[in-house]
Amino acid sequence: MRHFLTINDFSKDELLEMLSLAIAIKSQHARGIATPYLSGQTLAMVFEKSSTRTRVSFQVGIYQLGGFGIFLSNSDLQLGRGEIIRDSAAVISSMVDMIMVRTHMHERLEEFARHSSVSVINGLSDAFHPMQLLADYLTMIECGIFVSDAILDSTPYKSKFHQPIVAYIGDGNNMANSWLMLASKLGFELRLACPKNYMPKQEFLALAQDNAKKSGAKIILTDDIYAVSHGAHVITTDTWVSMGQENEKKQRMQDFKNYRVDSEIMANADKEAIFLHCLPAYRGLEVTEEVIDGTQSKIIEEAHNRLHAQKGVMVWLNRQNKKNII
Ligand code: CP
Ligand code: NVA
Repeated sequence: MRHFLTINDFSKDELLEMLSLAIAIKSQHARGIATPYLSGQTLAMVFEKSSTRTRVSFQVGIYQLGGFGIFLSNSDLQLGRGEIIRDSAAVISSMVDMIMVRTHMHERLEEFARHSSVSVINGLSDAFHPMQLLADYLTMIECGIFVSDAILDSTPYKSKFHQPIVAYIGDGNNMANSWLMLASKLGFELRLACPKNYMPKQEFLALAQDNAKKSGAKIILTDDIYAVSHGAHVITTDTWVSMGQENEKKQRMQDFKNYRVDSEIMANADKEAIFLHCLPAYRGLEVTEEVIDGTQSKIIEEAHNRLHAQKGVMVWLNRQNKKNII
């Protein structure tokens, strides 16, 4: 049984296969061709935290694949009243074909997967947000930042840059960790600028460095936002206060005040650079209004691509689990 808990669980070729499926299904959908690859299947969506994009994209995505999504919120589930994960996972998975889980500690997700008889997909944990990164990569391909290798050569997307560089500015959180996994698996240059006390955990950095030996990725970690943005092709950031960190807000406002993406940062990047943000965004904090609402910003395309990237993932997992083969 394959789960999708982190990008690190997959090889480069596997990730590109999912993206390739996403591109093909997106194109079919745009041409009005039906895509019933998961006809009659059910996806349970367990949310222990709030969501706009993840909820809508998974629910619409499974519907467009011919299946059905069930939204399960913590406030309604017995899980929210203390039922143990083991029982919840075993019971829910006995009735559905796939489960998406958004939770607090990554360990909860791992436990859920251990006791599930169907694939579990990470819809965000404190450690990783892999579905977001696949959507980000799809957006970067469409914007001509990256072309992948042979697997995607059949797509119309070509890269404008020989060696694309991504610069992430901000918290060393689930988004930063996910960028580390994506870059180190696919082999591109990732520069992270995080305040000294908010660097990604050593275990994730070590994992990325290890992957990079194989993929040829270049990983740079600093606290200097100008150094990372210089000549970069993608500038990205995330909220200073992630879900569950609300009680640290006052301190974080202080600690991150010099980690804002503004027009000076964009001017320091490549002139064709794009701006990405997983959203929700807080204008005037991690990014200025001028940048996020400016012409280089691709945030809406990026959020929209959650729908397509996740369809690629669900069809790929289903194929792995040998149900319907497309
Ligand atoms: N980017 C993202 O996952 O958004 P939601 O929290 O709205 O799902
Ligand atoms: N880092 C943010 C991402 C939200 C999509 C959080 O965990 O709240």
